[in-house]
Amino acid sequence: MFEFEVKDLSINKISALLTYGVSPRPIALVSTISQDGVNNLSPFSFFNAFGSNPPVVAFSPSRRVRDGSLKDTYHNLIESKECVIHAVSYAMVEQVNLASCDYPPEVDEFIKSGFTPIESDLVKPRRVMESPFQMECKLIQMVNCGDEFGAGNIAICEVLKFHISEKVYRDGKIDPALLDLVGRNGAEYYTHANKSSLFTVMKPGTKKGMGFDNLPDFIKDSSIYTANNLGKMALLEKLPTQEELDDFIKTIESLNELEFVEATEANFVRFSDTRDYRQMFAIAYVLHLKNNPKVGKYIELAAKAAIDVNDFDFGIKAAVWRGKFIESRRIGN
Ligand SMILES: Cc1cc2nc3c(=O)[nH]c(=O)nc-3n(C[C@H](O)[C@H](O)[C@H](O)COP(=O)(O)O)c2cc1C
Repeated sequence: MFEFEVKDLSINKISALLTYGVSPRPIALVSTISQDGVNNLSPFSFFNAFGSNPPVVAFSPSRRVRDGSLKDTYHNLIESKECVIHAVSYAMVEQVNLASCDYPPEVDEFIKSGFTPIESDLVKPRRVMESPFQMECKLIQMVNCGDEFGAGNIAICEVLKFHISEKVYRDGKIDPALLDLVGRNGAEYYTHANKSSLFTVMKPGTKKGMGFDNLPDFIKDSSIYTANNLGKMALLEKLPTQEELDDFIKTIESLNELEFVEATEANFVRFSDTRDYRQMFAIAYVLHLKNNPKVGKYIELAAKAAIDVNDFDFGIKAAVWRGKFIESRRIGN
């Protein structure tokens, strides 16, 4: 590991480490209004939500690293105590970048960035029509983290009203693929949360996963399973019983397809290409009956393919059965 103590670093280096390492960050496009009625629009990626009751979000209009000066958003918020925070979709990203230019306070940044202002219902700052997710907010507290160049200020805001585009709202929920948000990484890097990059992780909910300590060594020591595969297996509450394994094998034996597919290594490889883990396992099972020496690996590959697509029931049974039959073979020998 490279190691850095903060006391030895420049502000620019610290800023780079934080923005690369704490990422991807959601981006708040914040609309405020000055006492003179000038619209301000600026993106802030030091941003997140911090509770639902009351709904609290916070972002950081920091002091400039360059000269320690405070930003227009900060001044407007302190004066008016109101803002509208918008999510940034991929379609908006270049205009949002434009809104981050340091225009003087008398410049209307809706005009500069080309976004369309629409009136809010509960606060004075205008909303950005193009954003699919908008929150009208009031400032609860501004926390100043320091007076030096680059010091953060944390604007803690309460959400008063949500506006969500009908284009992204399906069956009473936001569809993350339709929302199509971007996140910020270090320097000029961004992340696009589009359909192909979104994935799901099973929530533990109230369940308590059995944990790594309860996974058998033959599963933990396998070179086939990834750490994520093991994590998924350890999230299950218990290992399958012998009875469940027997039933599992009976279903495999009765797989009709077995009658049509010859159980060869070549066919196993074909099914692994299409990730058809049932056929993979069925072939591996027949190869096991024929005492094929590679069968342990084939069963693990089938279990892995099932776990990869979240068929946990199939995956854990295949994985555990592999260990049991190896054991029984040893005893038999
Ligand atoms: C995507 C993006 C994220 C940004 N995040 C922050 C941030 O979290 N904090 C900050 O102070 N400046 C951030 N900036 C820079 C501000 O947007 C920029 O300083 C802005 O001009 C401030 O404008 P203002 O003086 O009108 O408030 C970010 C810029 C971009 C493009």
